[in-house]
Amino acid sequence: MASLGVNIDHIANIREARRTVEPDPVSMALLAELGGADGITVHLREDRRHIQDRDVELLRQTVRSRLNLEMAATDEMAAIALRIKPDMVTLVPERREEVTTEGGLDVAGQDASLAALVQTLQAAKIPVSLFVDPEPTQLQACKNTGACWVELHTGRYADADWSTQPQELARLHEGTAIARQLGLRVNAGHGLTYQNVEPIAAIPGMEELNIGHTIVARSVAVGLQQAVRDMKVLVQNPRLDPLFGQAPG
Ligand code: PXP
Repeated sequence: MASLGVNIDHIANIREARRTVEPDPVSMALLAELGGADGITVHLREDRRHIQDRDVELLRQTVRSRLNLEMAATDEMAAIALRIKPDMVTLVPERREEVTTEGGLDVAGQDASLAALVQTLQAAKIPVSLFVDPEPTQLQACKNTGACWVELHTGRYADADWSTQPQELARLHEGTAIARQLGLRVNAGHGLTYQNVEPIAAIPGMEELNIGHTIVARSVAVGLQQAVRDMKVLVQNPRLDPLFGQAPG
């Protein structure tokens, strides 16, 4: 059964739209946990467009589930992670001009430099996950860095229309199986919604889904605690849709 990591960046987005103090992602994380979040995920971006250093510091003290810090593979972020000691770091690509994270990390193109960072963080007892597309070469490169986890990018699946979504789902099934054979633990996320999450939650070997935008969007109508509760039901008990729910082959 997959668990649910709730990404609360969008709560900070609303606060930063006015550069004020509300809504506070730190107190909202507590509501997400009360709704059943198994973990809280935040992305501290280089440009600090949503989550701020203060948020990460306070979340480290208040989160009672698990704190997953998403960050770029930079010296600045490494120093912050080593000081704050989140329960997990997820390394993601970052470009200033993007609206949200686009594409996975090119681990295959830079595994020596990433491996050094992975080893530094893991030596400090911070397990590292690498956010990658579900490609065999990327997964092998992830393994070569020594990282414990991968997070498979579900963006292409989420953006696909009905005609190509089965292929994208098949790539995620295969990517999960390959990663597991390599001894990697597998998370997934990006673009998942109440409508498309169940086939991903049903992938054998999938451990955790990181979901943000759709939960924060629903929380405007029903409150964050309820929105998390609704998602948790889908993640834990996905219906095996005959089109998407079966493992291919
Ligand atoms: N996983 C990673 C690595 C991400 O960068 C994001 C977006 O910040 C998410 C999951 C959550 O994506 P969404 O907000 O589309 O659910």
